[in-house]
Amino acid sequence: MNQVYLNGDFLPAEQAQVSVFDRGFLLGDGVYEVIPVYQGNCFQLDGHLVRLQASLDAVRMKNPHSNREWEKIINELIKLNGDGNQSLYLQVTRGVAPRDHVFPENVSPTAFAMSNPLQAVSAEYKNEGVKAIILADIRWQNCNVKAITLLPNSLLKQQALEAGAVEALLIREGYLTEGAASNAYVVLDGTIYTAPKDEKVLAGITRDVVIQIAHDNNMPLKEVAVTVQQLKEADEIWISSSTKEVIAVTQLDDSPVANGKPGPIWQKMDALYQQFKRSDTT
Ligand code: PDD
Repeated sequence: MNQVYLNGDFLPAEQAQVSVFDRGFLLGDGVYEVIPVYQGNCFQLDGHLVRLQASLDAVRMKNPHSNREWEKIINELIKLNGDGNQSLYLQVTRGVAPRDHVFPENVSPTAFAMSNPLQAVSAEYKNEGVKAIILADIRWQNCNVKAITLLPNSLLKQQALEAGAVEALLIREGYLTEGAASNAYVVLDGTIYTAPKDEKVLAGITRDVVIQIAHDNNMPLKEVAVTVQQLKEADEIWISSSTKEVIAVTQLDDSPVANGKPGPIWQKMDALYQQFKRSDTT
Protein backbone atom coordinates (compact mmCIF):
# COMPACT_ATOMS: atom_id res chain seq x y z
CA MET A 1 0.00 0.00 0.00
CA ASN A 2 1.26 3.51 -0.83
CA GLN A 3 2.68 5.18 2.28
CA VAL A 4 2.70 8.94 2.75
CA TYR A 5 4.12 11.37 5.31
CA LEU A 6 1.86 13.87 7.06
CA ASN A 7 2.86 16.16 9.95
CA GLY A 8 5.25 13.75 11.67
CA ASP A 9 3.59 10.43 10.80
CA PHE A 10 4.02 7.83 8.08
CA LEU A 11 0.70 6.22 7.17
CA PRO A 12 -1.18 4.57 4.29
CA ALA A 13 -2.33 7.17 1.74
CA GLU A 14 -5.97 6.25 2.30
CA GLN A 15 -5.71 7.19 5.97
CA ALA A 16 -4.03 10.59 5.50
CA GLN A 17 -6.45 13.43 6.20
CA VAL A 18 -6.16 17.20 6.17
CA SER A 19 -8.69 19.68 7.56
CA VAL A 20 -11.01 21.48 5.12
CA PHE A 21 -9.74 24.66 6.82
CA ASP A 22 -6.20 24.02 5.61
CA ARG A 23 -5.10 27.14 3.72
CA GLY A 24 -3.70 24.92 1.00
CA PHE A 25 -7.25 23.70 0.32
CA LEU A 26 -9.06 27.04 0.73
CA LEU A 27 -6.51 29.48 -0.70
CA GLY A 28 -3.84 27.49 -2.53
CA ASP A 29 -1.51 28.90 0.13
CA GLY A 30 1.42 26.52 -0.14
CA VAL A 31 4.56 25.49 -1.99
CA TYR A 32 5.86 22.17 -3.29
CA GLU A 33 8.72 20.20 -4.79
CA VAL A 34 8.92 17.20 -7.12
CA ILE A 35 12.10 15.12 -6.75
CA PRO A 36 13.02 12.19 -8.99
CA VAL A 37 14.36 9.06 -7.29
CA TYR A 38 16.42 6.53 -9.24
CA GLN A 39 17.11 3.09 -7.74
CA GLY A 40 16.11 4.40 -4.33
CA ASN A 41 18.41 7.46 -4.52
CA CYS A 42 17.26 11.07 -4.81
CA PHE A 43 18.58 13.02 -7.78
CA GLN A 44 19.85 16.50 -6.85
CA LEU A 45 18.21 16.49 -3.41
CA ASP A 46 20.24 19.46 -2.13
CA GLY A 47 19.08 21.63 -5.03
CA HIS A 48 15.44 20.74 -4.37
CA LEU A 49 15.72 21.53 -0.65
CA VAL A 50 17.42 24.86 -1.38
CA ARG A 51 14.60 25.74 -3.80
CA LEU A 52 11.96 24.64 -1.26
CA GLN A 53 13.49 27.05 1.27
CA ALA A 54 13.55 29.83 -1.35
CA SER A 55 9.84 29.26 -2.14
CA LEU A 56 8.97 29.27 1.58
CA ASP A 57 10.98 32.47 2.14
CA ALA A 58 9.25 34.13 -0.82
CA VAL A 59 5.79 33.48 0.64
CA ARG A 60 6.92 34.18 4.23
CA MET A 61 6.24 30.68 5.48
CA LYS A 62 8.27 28.80 8.07
CA ASN A 63 10.02 25.61 7.00
CA PRO A 64 8.58 22.90 9.26
CA HIS A 65 11.80 20.84 8.95
CA SER A 66 15.53 21.31 8.75
CA ASN A 67 17.21 19.86 5.65
CA ARG A 68 18.48 16.94 7.76
CA GLU A 69 14.93 16.21 8.90
CA TRP A 70 13.61 16.41 5.33
CA GLU A 71 16.37 14.04 4.24
CA LYS A 72 15.38 11.52 6.92
CA ILE A 73 11.68 11.79 6.03
CA ILE A 74 12.40 11.44 2.32
CA ASN A 75 14.69 8.43 2.74
CA GLU A 76 12.18 6.71 5.02
CA LEU A 77 9.37 7.34 2.52
CA ILE A 78 11.45 6.00 -0.36
CA LYS A 79 12.14 2.84 1.64
CA LEU A 80 8.49 2.42 2.70
CA ASN A 81 7.48 2.63 -0.95
CA GLY A 82 9.89 -0.07 -2.08
CA ASP A 83 12.94 1.87 -3.35
CA GLY A 84 13.32 1.72 -7.15
CA ASN A 85 12.33 4.72 -9.30
CA GLN A 86 9.91 7.14 -7.69
CA SER A 87 8.64 10.67 -8.05
CA LEU A 88 8.62 12.25 -4.61
CA TYR A 89 6.23 15.10 -3.94
CA LEU A 90 6.69 17.45 -0.95
CA GLN A 91 4.14 20.08 0.00
CA VAL A 92 4.08 22.66 2.75
CA THR A 93 1.00 24.81 3.36
CA ARG A 94 0.59 27.66 5.84
CA GLY A 95 -1.62 25.41 7.95
CA VAL A 96 -5.14 25.22 9.35
CA ALA A 97 -6.98 28.43 10.31
CA PRO A 98 -10.39 30.12 9.85
CA ARG A 99 -10.60 31.39 6.27
CA ASP A 100 -9.09 34.86 5.91
CA HIS A 101 -6.85 36.36 3.23
CA VAL A 102 -4.36 37.70 5.76
CA PHE A 103 -1.92 35.33 7.42
CA PRO A 104 -3.11 33.66 10.62
CA GLU A 105 -0.97 33.99 13.74
CA ASN A 106 0.50 31.05 15.65
CA VAL A 107 -0.37 28.47 13.05
CA SER A 108 1.76 25.40 12.31
CA PRO A 109 2.46 24.61 8.68
CA THR A 110 1.09 21.39 7.19
CA ALA A 111 3.91 19.17 5.91
CA PHE A 112 3.04 16.43 3.44
CA ALA A 113 5.08 14.06 1.28
CA MET A 114 4.04 11.28 -1.06
CA SER A 115 5.67 8.97 -3.57
CA ASN A 116 4.38 8.14 -7.02
CA PRO A 117 5.89 5.72 -9.51
CA LEU A 118 8.36 7.52 -11.78
CA GLN A 119 7.43 6.62 -15.35
CA ALA A 120 10.44 6.17 -17.62
CA VAL A 121 10.45 8.66 -20.50
CA SER A 122 8.82 6.77 -23.37
CA ALA A 123 10.82 5.51 -26.36
CA GLU A 124 8.40 7.42 -28.58
CA TYR A 125 9.18 10.75 -26.88
CA LYS A 126 12.91 10.02 -27.11
CA ASN A 127 12.92 8.88 -30.75
CA GLU A 128 10.31 11.22 -32.18
CA GLY A 129 10.21 14.17 -29.80
CA VAL A 130 6.92 15.82 -28.85
CA LYS A 131 4.53 18.50 -30.05
CA ALA A 132 4.23 21.84 -28.23
CA ILE A 133 1.93 24.79 -28.83
CA ILE A 134 2.62 28.46 -28.25
CA LEU A 135 0.34 30.17 -25.71
CA ALA A 136 0.31 33.45 -23.83
CA ASP A 137 1.90 33.20 -20.38
CA ILE A 138 -1.16 33.94 -18.25
CA ARG A 139 0.57 33.20 -14.92
CA TRP A 140 1.39 35.61 -12.10
CA GLN A 141 4.52 37.72 -11.49
CA ASN A 142 6.29 35.26 -9.18
CA CYS A 143 6.85 32.20 -11.32
CA ASN A 144 10.15 31.61 -9.49
CA VAL A 145 8.05 30.44 -6.52
CA LYS A 146 7.02 26.79 -6.79
CA ALA A 147 3.52 27.51 -5.52
CA ILE A 148 0.74 24.89 -5.37
CA THR A 149 -1.58 27.50 -6.90
CA LEU A 150 -1.39 25.93 -10.36
CA LEU A 151 -4.69 26.88 -11.99
CA PRO A 152 -3.09 28.85 -14.88
CA ASN A 153 -0.55 26.05 -15.51
CA SER A 154 -3.35 23.51 -15.42
CA LEU A 155 -5.46 25.47 -17.93
CA LEU A 156 -2.46 25.85 -20.24
CA LYS A 157 -1.53 22.15 -20.06
CA GLN A 158 -5.12 21.14 -20.74
CA GLN A 159 -5.24 23.42 -23.77
CA ALA A 160 -2.01 21.80 -25.01
CA LEU A 161 -3.42 18.32 -24.48
CA GLU A 162 -6.59 19.21 -26.40
CA ALA A 163 -4.39 20.42 -29.30
CA GLY A 164 -2.61 17.04 -29.37
CA ALA A 165 0.49 18.52 -27.72
CA VAL A 166 2.52 17.57 -24.66
CA GLU A 167 3.49 21.07 -23.56
CA ALA A 168 2.55 24.73 -23.93
CA LEU A 169 5.47 27.09 -24.57
CA LEU A 170 4.67 30.41 -22.94
CA ILE A 171 5.19 33.91 -24.28
CA ARG A 172 5.34 36.99 -22.06
CA GLU A 173 5.94 40.42 -23.61
CA GLY A 174 7.17 38.82 -26.84
CA TYR A 175 9.70 36.48 -25.20
CA LEU A 176 9.67 32.74 -24.46
CA THR A 177 9.63 32.18 -20.70
CA GLU A 178 9.24 28.42 -20.17
CA GLY A 179 6.73 25.58 -20.51
CA ALA A 180 3.59 25.21 -18.38
CA ALA A 181 5.45 22.54 -16.36
CA SER A 182 8.99 22.64 -17.74
CA ASN A 183 11.89 24.89 -18.63
CA ALA A 184 12.45 25.58 -22.32
CA TYR A 185 15.53 25.78 -24.55
CA VAL A 186 16.02 26.92 -28.12
CA VAL A 187 19.05 26.06 -30.28
CA LEU A 188 20.01 28.69 -32.85
CA ASP A 189 23.21 28.41 -34.91
CA GLY A 190 24.75 25.93 -32.47
CA THR A 191 24.04 27.95 -29.31
CA ILE A 192 21.54 26.79 -26.68
CA TYR A 193 19.37 29.60 -25.26
CA THR A 194 17.25 29.41 -22.11
CA ALA A 195 15.52 32.24 -20.24
CA PRO A 196 17.53 33.63 -17.30
CA LYS A 197 16.60 32.88 -13.68
CA ASP A 198 14.23 35.63 -12.63
CA GLU A 199 10.63 35.96 -11.48
CA LYS A 200 9.32 34.95 -14.93
CA VAL A 201 10.53 31.33 -14.72
CA LEU A 202 10.95 28.54 -12.23
CA ALA A 203 14.63 27.88 -11.52
CA GLY A 204 14.44 24.26 -12.65
CA ILE A 205 16.79 21.77 -11.03
CA THR A 206 17.00 19.88 -14.34
CA ARG A 207 17.83 23.23 -15.98
CA ASP A 208 20.78 23.65 -13.56
CA VAL A 209 22.05 20.19 -14.58
CA VAL A 210 21.66 21.00 -18.30
CA ILE A 211 23.64 24.22 -17.83
CA GLN A 212 26.37 22.42 -15.91
CA ILE A 213 26.62 19.70 -18.57
CA ALA A 214 26.78 22.29 -21.34
CA HIS A 215 29.50 24.17 -19.47
CA ASP A 216 31.57 21.04 -18.74
CA ASN A 217 31.38 19.88 -22.35
CA ASN A 218 32.01 23.14 -24.20
CA MET A 219 28.49 23.32 -25.57
CA PRO A 220 27.69 27.03 -26.07
CA LEU A 221 24.75 28.06 -23.83
CA LYS A 222 23.40 31.50 -23.07
CA GLU A 223 20.93 32.35 -20.32
CA VAL A 224 19.12 34.80 -22.56
CA ALA A 225 15.42 34.78 -23.46
CA VAL A 226 14.53 34.38 -27.15
CA THR A 227 11.74 36.14 -29.00
CA VAL A 228 8.71 34.34 -30.36
CA GLN A 229 10.18 34.85 -33.84
CA GLN A 230 13.44 33.13 -32.84
CA LEU A 231 11.40 30.32 -31.29
CA LYS A 232 9.63 29.81 -34.62
CA GLU A 233 12.96 29.76 -36.49
CA ALA A 234 14.73 27.44 -34.02
CA ASP A 235 17.01 24.63 -35.19
CA GLU A 236 16.03 22.69 -32.08
CA ILE A 237 13.63 23.20 -29.17
CA TRP A 238 13.81 21.23 -25.90
CA ILE A 239 11.92 21.13 -22.62
CA SER A 240 13.16 19.82 -19.28
CA SER A 241 11.74 18.78 -15.93
CA SER A 242 12.46 16.38 -13.11
CA THR A 243 9.95 13.84 -14.38
CA LYS A 244 10.49 14.24 -18.16
CA GLU A 245 14.28 14.86 -18.14
CA VAL A 246 15.24 16.65 -21.38
CA ILE A 247 13.01 16.02 -24.38
CA ALA A 248 13.03 17.45 -27.87
CA VAL A 249 10.08 19.42 -29.22
CA THR A 250 9.84 18.41 -32.88
CA GLN A 251 6.52 20.03 -33.76
CA LEU A 252 5.57 23.59 -32.85
CA ASP A 253 1.92 24.39 -33.43
CA ASP A 254 1.32 22.96 -36.92
CA SER A 255 4.88 23.09 -38.21
CA PRO A 256 7.84 20.74 -37.80
CA VAL A 257 10.86 22.10 -35.94
CA ALA A 258 13.68 21.99 -38.57
CA ASN A 259 13.39 18.48 -40.11
CA GLY A 260 10.88 17.32 -37.47
CA LYS A 261 13.35 14.96 -35.73
CA PRO A 262 15.21 15.37 -32.43
CA GLY A 263 18.37 17.31 -33.35
CA PRO A 264 22.06 16.46 -32.89
CA ILE A 265 22.63 18.86 -30.00
CA TRP A 266 19.69 17.34 -28.10
CA GLN A 267 21.12 13.84 -28.84
CA LYS A 268 24.42 14.89 -27.29
CA MET A 269 22.77 16.55 -24.29
CA ASP A 270 20.51 13.56 -23.65
CA ALA A 271 23.45 11.12 -23.73
CA LEU A 272 25.42 13.31 -21.32
CA TYR A 273 22.36 13.77 -19.09
CA GLN A 274 21.88 9.99 -18.82
CA GLN A 275 25.56 9.63 -17.92
CA PHE A 276 25.28 12.41 -15.31
CA LYS A 277 22.17 10.79 -13.82
CA ARG A 278 23.95 7.47 -13.39
CA SER A 279 26.98 9.06 -11.75
CA ASP A 280 24.89 11.31 -9.46
CA THR A 281 22.59 8.62 -8.09
CA THR A 282 25.03 5.75 -7.48
N1 PDD B 1 7.29 20.93 -12.60
N2 PDD B 1 8.91 25.22 -14.82
C1 PDD B 1 7.71 24.87 -14.32
C2 PDD B 1 6.58 25.84 -14.43
C3 PDD B 1 7.54 23.62 -13.70
O1 PDD B 1 6.35 23.29 -13.18
C4 PDD B 1 8.64 22.71 -13.65
C5 PDD B 1 8.53 21.36 -13.02
C6 PDD B 1 9.86 23.13 -14.19
C7 PDD B 1 11.08 22.24 -14.16
O2 PDD B 1 11.66 22.21 -12.88
P1 PDD B 1 12.49 20.95 -12.39
O3 PDD B 1 13.55 20.69 -13.40
O4 PDD B 1 13.05 21.37 -11.09
O5 PDD B 1 11.53 19.78 -12.28
C8 PDD B 1 9.96 24.39 -14.76
C9 PDD B 1 7.13 19.73 -11.82
C10 PDD B 1 7.82 18.51 -12.34
C11 PDD B 1 5.65 19.52 -11.52
O6 PDD B 1 5.00 20.53 -11.29
O7 PDD B 1 5.17 18.39 -11.48
